[in-house]
Amino acid sequence: QKVVLAYSGGLDTSVILPWLKETYGYDVIAFAAELGQGDELAGIKKKALASGASKCVVKDLRREFVEDYLWPMLKSGAVYENGYLLGTSIARPLIAKHQVEVAHAEKATAVAHGATGKGNDQVRFELTFMALDPTLEIIAPWKDPKFKLTSREAAVDYAKKHNIPIEQSKKKIYSRDRNLWHISHEGADLEDPANEPKDDLFVMSQPVSQTPDKPDYVTIGFHEGVPVKLDGKLTSGVKMIEALNEIGGRHAVGQVDVVENRLVGMKSRGVYETPGGTILMTAHAALESLTMERETMHYKQQVALKYAELVYYGQWFSPLREALDAFIDVTQRSVTGDVRVKLFKGRCTPAGMKSPNSLYQADLASFTMGAEYDQIDAKGFIRLFGLPMKVAGAVSRREQKG
Ligand code: ARG
Ligand code: SIN
Repeated sequence: QKVVLAYSGGLDTSVILPWLKETYGYDVIAFAAELGQGDELAGIKKKALASGASKCVVKDLRREFVEDYLWPMLKSGAVYENGYLLGTSIARPLIAKHQVEVAHAEKATAVAHGATGKGNDQVRFELTFMALDPTLEIIAPWKDPKFKLTSREAAVDYAKKHNIPIEQSKKKIYSRDRNLWHISHEGADLEDPANEPKDDLFVMSQPVSQTPDKPDYVTIGFHEGVPVKLDGKLTSGVKMIEALNEIGGRHAVGQVDVVENRLVGMKSRGVYETPGGTILMTAHAALESLTMERETMHYKQQVALKYAELVYYGQWFSPLREALDAFIDVTQRSVTGDVRVKLFKGRCTPAGMKSPNSLYQADLASFTMGAEYDQIDAKGFIRLFGLPMKVAGAVSRREQKG
């Protein structure tokens, strides 16, 4: 029997690996996805094999992550609960999808993940497994009564006893998840919403107190909603996000501190750094304001709320998400042009934009403000537009008089 474990090399998955072997007698194949998490993947194969894996598969998924996951989400405008740019949520279905592919290639009958029974990630992994191959057995040790390694101390002791290479510390540290789009921080002192995030928490960006006193500007060129040029030069998605993370991080752009509603019911406190993503979202929204017709734009705002929920809830491989993508792609046909963005002291603000599809144009202004727009028409328009309110007001006043 073989099981494919979503493996990060962190403490949790490092002890789950030998535990699966010991408890279930499975052959464990470790699967790690390169999603731009920095140097975390250095030495991961060695570590997995030293921890008892029969094999370790590492796939570089950065390009797929950007083109098939981040860009559709960017185009949708999805933001969860007004702040969270969904960096962890969007990565889970991609990891799980490749885990299923590895299971097929290796003739494994089970897949495993190290997410707890209290969070969102378990849902995202398992919904993806269910959508892509419901015959695979799902093993989630954190939800297995036999699994006793749920405290950091127990996990560290177990690792030592089994000669699993880990970073030694038993002290409370943040639960973090990093990729090209963001890093999340949860737990430790953040568990109390009364505590301000400490300056040394930040990983992808500077604390605002240490940012330069002069702004920087970047120009993003979009083609049908997709960012393709950085400062006038054609740039691949991966390179674009890396470069924007660097410059945005220097100016503390994209730091948010939220209390969010988890799918499983409780509230949780999280701090996120999404420097490049914040720049792209800001620029993209600005370009939409210039190029998108009003009714489409207003309808799309509602779609963005639903899209954020679908991503957060792990429903990526759902018919609704596909259908919404089809709608969004039609709306993006006009979203082509350049947006200049100013980065300064944690802020990211549009500072000039241009589009061949701008609905705000001087030559059109004479059309809309000239013969086509007769101010006298506005009198009749408002008279009819206001009629329901006028009637309702009159009736309610008559009722009050009795
Ligand atoms: N709360 C965020 C989310 O649900 C981040 C989760 C981070 N996950 C982790 N395993 N550290 O998407
Ligand atoms: C976990 O509980 O495994 C991480 C946090 C989350 O999934 O929301």
